[in-house]
Order: sequence, then C-alpha cells, then structure tokens
Amino acid sequence: MIISLESLSFFLILGFSITLAYPKRSTTSEKKSMSHQKLRILCLHGLGQNNQTFRNKTGSMRKRLKSLAEFTYIDSPYTIANLSISNLEDIAESGEQRSWFHPQDDRYSENIVTGFNDSFPYIEEVIKSKGPFDGILGFSQGAELLGLICCLKSKNLFQGDFKFVIFVSGFKSHCPAYKDHYCVPNPIRIPSLHVWGEGDKIIVKERSEAFMELFDHSTRHKVVHPGGHFLPGHVNVAAEFKKFLTVQQQQQQQLLVTTSTSTNQ
Ligand SMILES: *[C@@H]1O[C@H](CO)[C@@H](O)[C@H](O)[C@H]1NC(C)=O
Ligand SMILES: *[C@@H]1O[C@H](CO)[C@@H](O)[C@H](O)[C@H]1NC(C)=O
Ligand SMILES: *[C@@H]1O[C@H](CO)[C@@H](O)[C@H](O)[C@H]1NC(C)=O
Ligand SMILES: *[C@@H]1O[C@H](CO)[C@@H](O)[C@H](O)[C@H]1NC(C)=O
Repeated sequence: MIISLESLSFFLILGFSITLAYPKRSTTSEKKSMSHQKLRILCLHGLGQNNQTFRNKTGSMRKRLKSLAEFTYIDSPYTIANLSISNLEDIAESGEQRSWFHPQDDRYSENIVTGFNDSFPYIEEVIKSKGPFDGILGFSQGAELLGLICCLKSKNLFQGDFKFVIFVSGFKSHCPAYKDHYCVPNPIRIPSLHVWGEGDKIIVKERSEAFMELFDHSTRHKVVHPGGHFLPGHVNVAAEFKKFLTVQQQQQQQLLVTTSTSTNQ
C-alpha cells in the first residue's frame, strides 16, 4: 500500500532542546567565507539499496537542503545475490542490492551473528579518501552501523572524525556480537538528529525511540513524521533538518573563528 503524504494531515512531534551557540560578530570577509561553508554529509544507505538508489530516494530532501549541505553517497562493501526480504519498502528497483553485513547474513533476522566487522574500517577509509565530512547520515541498516560507529568512536576505537549524526529509522543492533559495543560512556555525546515514521513497519517507532535514548538528551533532536520506512522530502521535515544543520554550521564556523583567533594571538 502506498500512502501519499499529501493525503495525510502532516504532523511532526519535535523534541528540540537546542542550546544555540551563535558565533561572535564577524568581519565582512569572514561572513563571506561563512556563507560558502556548506556542510559535507556522508550518507549510508539501507539494506538492499545502493548509492544510486538511496541518492534517488532522498532527492527531494537533498534539493531542499542544497544551500546548506552537500551529500556524498557511497556503496556498502557487500553485494547480496538473492535478497529474500519480501516486505522491505526501500529495496533497490535497479542496480545492485547491497548490505553493510557480510553476505552470509543475507537475511533480515534478529539472529545475525557476524556482520559489520569489515564495514568499520571501510568507513574509516572513506572518511580518509573522500572526507573530511562534517556529519554522517545513516538510513535503517546504515543507521544501525552508524550507531555502532558512534559507540566505537566514544571509546576511541574508530579512527575518523565527524561532528554530528543523523539517523533515519535508526535502531540498536540485535546482533549478539555487538552487544558490548553499546557499553559506552553513557550517554553518547554527539549532536544527533533522529528521524522516524509513525507508520514504519520495518523498524517500528519503539526501536527508534529506544535507540535515541543512547544519546545525550541536551544534544539530541527528534523529528517524527506520519510516513513509513523512508526519509520524506516533505517541507516540514526539511525545516527541522535546516534548523538542526544551521546550528551545526554555526558551531563549525565558531570553531574555525576560535581556532584562527587563537592562532593569531
Ligand atoms: C529513481 O527514481 C525513479 C522514480 O521513482 C525510478 O523510476 C528510477 O528507476 C530510480 N533510479 C534509480 C537508479 O534507482
Ligand atoms: C555508485 O554506484 C555506481 C553503479 O553501481 C558505481 O559505479 C559507483 O562506483 C558507486 N559509487 C560509489 C561512491 O560507491
Ligand atoms: C532466491 O531465494 C528464494 C527464497 O529462498 C528462492 O525461492 C529463489 O529461487 C532464489 N533465487 C535465486 C536466483 O537464487
Ligand atoms: C566480528 O566482530 C565481533 C565483535 O568484535 C566478533 O565477536 C566476531 O567474531 C567477528 N566476526 C567475524 C566473522 O570476524
């Protein structure tokens, strides 16, 4: 069944508690360079997608945010030969179906016992070769991976820098091998945007909600939309992205100003 977002009265449930940190007043030349400082965001697709299909699916959101951010889409390391997932809404209509898990875990199951091991160093390498990135966005299985990366990073077990994260239909891995990864200095301190659909049947909202609890409440923000397992391009969702990204951009800029000021002294 396809639910048209326009046919529903659109609602958003927001949990914003932002501490705004505006940059100090700046000179004209600083302002000029500021306005050109787009955020760079690395995007991790979901199970069964690839860089092109995810790019395609997120096209309207990307267009709405194009003055603020540019997005880099990559393929996960593994190709799936025969994906037997009947109810995955976001399966690639074209091209390869890919996964961040090892192909031996070629199933949508709660009992996955191996998986992301190769994807962690792979993302480290992508950050080195295609970065730097200001933030990372993960969708579904990509968000599961990104959550684990945040855990590793907070224990200094991930070599790669980023300043904020965006989870679309995020969840905590049920894979027993990764249980200990979640034992982190509690909570995880990185600005995070958590987006999910009230009608998501693949990652039900309770899982995304529970996952959000891992993150520091003073720097986490939530956007709930009435749709399903996807990132809607709706203007109301885009407005919340803009709010979040604008704060990230200001903080990055402030960091630059502070750094250059202290270098000058
Ligand atoms: C992109 O989306 C359009 C419309 O939904 C679809 O027809 C096309 O096959 C998609 N292309 C890719 C590469 O997924
Ligand atoms: C994106 O997908 C295309 C087609 O499969 C592939 O040629 C290209 O290398 C991919 N790009 C990245 C960055 O993974
Ligand atoms: C894919 O898997 C399904 C279900 O296990 C099976 O019926 C089908 O024959 C497989 N297709 C290929 C091309 O292996
Ligand atoms: C992957 O890493 C986990 C956790 O470190 C480990 O328990 C598991 O054995 C590894 N699996 C493979 C296939 O290397």
